[in-house]
Amino acid sequence: MAKGFFISKAVGIVCIVAAVGAVATIIALSVVYSQEKAKNNDSNLQPTKPPPVTKPPGPTTAKPSNELWDKYRLPSNLVPNHYNVTLRPRLTPDASGKYIFTGESSVEFHCAEATNLILIHSHKLTYSPVSNGLLARLTAVNNGDTVPGIESVWLQNETQYLVVQLKGDLTKGNYYILETIFEGELADDLGGFYRSEYTENGVKKVIATTQMEATDARKAFPCFDEPEMKATFDITLIHDLGTVALSNGKEIETTEDTMGDVKVLKTKFERTERMSTYLLAFIVSEFDFIQDNSDDVLIRIFARKPAIAAGQGEYALNKTGPMLKFFEEYYNYSYPLPKSDQVGLPDFPFGAMENWGLITYRETALLYDEEYSSNSDKERIATVIAHELAHMWFSNLVTMRWWNDLWLNEGFATYGEYLGAHQAEPTWNIKDLIVLNDVHRVFAVDALASSHPLSSKEEDIQKPAQINELFDTITYSKGASIVRMMSDFLTEDVFEQGFQTYLKAFAFQNTVYTDLWTHLQMAVDATGTALPQSVNNIMNTWVLQMGFPVVTINTATGDVSQKHFLLDPESVVTTPSPYNYEWIVPMRWMKTGAVQALTWLETKSASIPAMKVTGNDWVLANIDVAGYYRVNYDQANWDKLLNALNTNHEVIPVINRAQLVDDAFNLARAKIIQTVQALETTTYLNNETAYMPWASAINNLDYFYLMFDRSEVYGPMQDYLRKQVTPLFNYYKDLTGNWADVPTGHMDQYNEVNAISLACRTDLQECQELTTTWFRDWMNTGVNKIHPNLRSTMYCNAIATGGAAEWEFAWDKFKNTSIAAEVDKLRIALACTKQAWLLNRYLEYALNPNMIRKQDAMSTIVYIANNVIGQSLAWDFVRARWSYIFSQYGSESNSFPNLINGVTERFSTEFELQQLKQFKADNAEVGFGSGTLALDQSIERTVANIKWIAENKNNVLNWFIAESKS
Ligand SMILES: *[C@@H]1O[C@H](CO)[C@@H](O)[C@H](O)[C@H]1NC(C)=O
Ligand SMILES: *[C@@H]1O[C@H](CO)[C@@H](O)[C@H](O)[C@H]1NC(C)=O
Ligand SMILES: *[C@@H]1O[C@H](CO)[C@@H](O)[C@H](O)[C@H]1NC(C)=O
Ligand SMILES: [Zn+2]
Repeated sequence: MAKGFFISKAVGIVCIVAAVGAVATIIALSVVYSQEKAKNNDSNLQPTKPPPVTKPPGPTTAKPSNELWDKYRLPSNLVPNHYNVTLRPRLTPDASGKYIFTGESSVEFHCAEATNLILIHSHKLTYSPVSNGLLARLTAVNNGDTVPGIESVWLQNETQYLVVQLKGDLTKGNYYILETIFEGELADDLGGFYRSEYTENGVKKVIATTQMEATDARKAFPCFDEPEMKATFDITLIHDLGTVALSNGKEIETTEDTMGDVKVLKTKFERTERMSTYLLAFIVSEFDFIQDNSDDVLIRIFARKPAIAAGQGEYALNKTGPMLKFFEEYYNYSYPLPKSDQVGLPDFPFGAMENWGLITYRETALLYDEEYSSNSDKERIATVIAHELAHMWFSNLVTMRWWNDLWLNEGFATYGEYLGAHQAEPTWNIKDLIVLNDVHRVFAVDALASSHPLSSKEEDIQKPAQINELFDTITYSKGASIVRMMSDFLTEDVFEQGFQTYLKAFAFQNTVYTDLWTHLQMAVDATGTALPQSVNNIMNTWVLQMGFPVVTINTATGDVSQKHFLLDPESVVTTPSPYNYEWIVPMRWMKTGAVQALTWLETKSASIPAMKVTGNDWVLANIDVAGYYRVNYDQANWDKLLNALNTNHEVIPVINRAQLVDDAFNLARAKIIQTVQALETTTYLNNETAYMPWASAINNLDYFYLMFDRSEVYGPMQDYLRKQVTPLFNYYKDLTGNWADVPTGHMDQYNEVNAISLACRTDLQECQELTTTWFRDWMNTGVNKIHPNLRSTMYCNAIATGGAAEWEFAWDKFKNTSIAAEVDKLRIALACTKQAWLLNRYLEYALNPNMIRKQDAMSTIVYIANNVIGQSLAWDFVRARWSYIFSQYGSESNSFPNLINGVTERFSTEFELQQLKQFKADNAEVGFGSGTLALDQSIERTVANIKWIAENKNNVLNWFIAESKS
């Protein structure tokens, strides 16, 4: 899957902090929504057919049971081989208003060990008798093999099994077929077989679609729903006239049929390759498509008819073929399927899903509109397509044996995002951005004592909820960072050799991560050169322990040492590590601008004489942040680096300019260096036009805004930053002919947005006039001349400086636009107003599903809280409505951490701490669900913020005052 969260660069700094929390909220929310839906519906999911459940035999006691059906993992005695599945989704509700699907399924499996029990996953399905009043029929594949009779059939809800108890044993070595007939709800819960709705020309349309990963294939039909249980599938979909059916295989034929007195279509699909259940997909819709069949692989893009008619699928269609070719060469393995369909869905829980041959996307991750999409939207599309295509090999062809190795699939796919997008857009330099978007982002999480290792133990991941928790930043971004580090120290050639033989060896099978180490080692050995230690030894230090080191280089002595980097130096690490929090660290470095040979730090400390320098020479380590660690130096070397930045910054590579800023601010947070020393890394910015260092500085200064935008530090801080950003603002004004043109470079386009956002944020008069004029012009003429790149930041600033008229105008547009990219820009900008009454009304709207889609409710509240005026309003609102929010948005949901973090992010006073504690006490009875931990963390963070302000406020204030005058 592609990450559901996405930080729009175009939103600009006003919203960046909110974006981190809020966008994460978006994924979480869809989960909430689904759970909440599921809960509502459970009560009326009464069987419509004869009573399906026979009680399990034996006494029913409350004691924990050791029965096989109480374990979450399947026994290995039965192995599926092939399924025939026919499904019929109903796109109109039944008499009771419910949407359902019906189905028939048969699975052929092999008996590897004699047993009298068949366990097959099934969740929220109800069964009808197949024969003799029994809810399943068992036959032997070979005529003449005996088949034991069925004793009873029942559903084991907690572990999500259909249990078939037999009267005798299945025979080891024999093949059997189990048939069932079932029904499920086609709910709008974004999981399993679900429905998505949209309006076209005033008419409501319904789509039936799927999201199986991680454990929801069992919600569509009974199946052995574990990644290792690969099988082939013959799928048939029965659907209404006028609709199109899609699945993993290519359609073989569509015939007309009559069911009852209804005419329907019946579409059969080619048999799939051997694959895991979580990669299946079925879609019935009225979508239109465009295609490219110029090559062996048929490529089609499906979406709502108006979106296809408007050409929004063209970009994806043009880029997919070349990207597939690129990956075929990169992996040295042909794309194994005859077609690649990609579908944009109005409601989708994640960014995208790599179903084999039928990739699903949320619309904003697939559809590109010349008129409405920004360059950031375009990058999102290129990278998400690349991510999913990379999965066709890493995940689909070779699959992890169990979910504990999920990081391997997602790490490779996330790394592949940059390679594929680079292929599609070679002028973007997009590979550099992995440092901001993944390495720096995950550093923030992985520096906490509460982090966790990349690889989990298989036995620790059992329940669906535990599996779902693995889809986090560590898995994606740390996974990608580690893969990138490997490709760097192995060299790209050796790295490719290694995973190419790995893919060949394990095609259509499953692996554990050490299988990859073995093949990379083989590739290393084949070169005849050696690494300091085995791939296994090196990589396990990064994979089996959480966190990362800060490497400290004393350039006066050449002494180099490493230490587990903790953002809060007082936090206590309770997670044991097999390597005592020491890593085998590959170091690329340079001396006074000259690149040196790769050097390894294999122990806690070492003497590296080459790193001892004198005079004006300086050392800069972790070139291009190829390694997953931070770097600290002796004071003299820091001073020389700062001097290099201030006199001739180009001598330091651009990625390392971003690194110096990010490392310095984080070292300061960890009290390894002084806060004002971190601020010193920003003084050269008045002469910097590159995007990455600015983005890095803005990310870090956001914490200063949160801590100080309600205090006397704010004024001098604004003065200083305005002074720093003014040259950048003028630079872009000139470069674009007074904002008429679009800068050529991709990153220049991003930095133009930064220039405008920060200039407006720091109240640069000319910037305020610029945004207000453009927005007013749109209001007056009805024609929006603002370039899509600049819309988020311009909307936000115009609404912030404007009043009710601007807000109402934007709200009207928000309600009246069907282009997903534009709708989100408006929704976020609406939270920027400084009028308290508008913000309060917007908070009310957020909980009204007619105003704000339910899946966007929580993130809207978080956006409002990010606004300094909205902060206390949102906090009061959440406190007052807690029990309502809790009941409406799911007591077991994942959304509350983001909500609670979002509304308390600025907390930094004793008074706020008391309020937070009171909130916890007052609602103890209602509870906080998944927000429980976040609430405790918020209290902890508030304590830390109070301390940080006490320690830093005066120094920071004085520094800003001095610097804004100099
Ligand atoms: C699937 O259907 C085919 C054709 O009807 C049949 O030969 C095969 O046995 C079926 N397999 C299973 C597992 O039901
Ligand atoms: C920025 O750097 C350039 C070249 O190093 C120099 O000519 C220019 O004066 C500097 N500008 C400022 C504002 O420091
Ligand atoms: C909203 O859309 C409808 C139909 O496209 C159009 O007639 C109407 O003028 C629009 N309203 C606004 C405020 O743009
Ligand atoms: Zn993925």
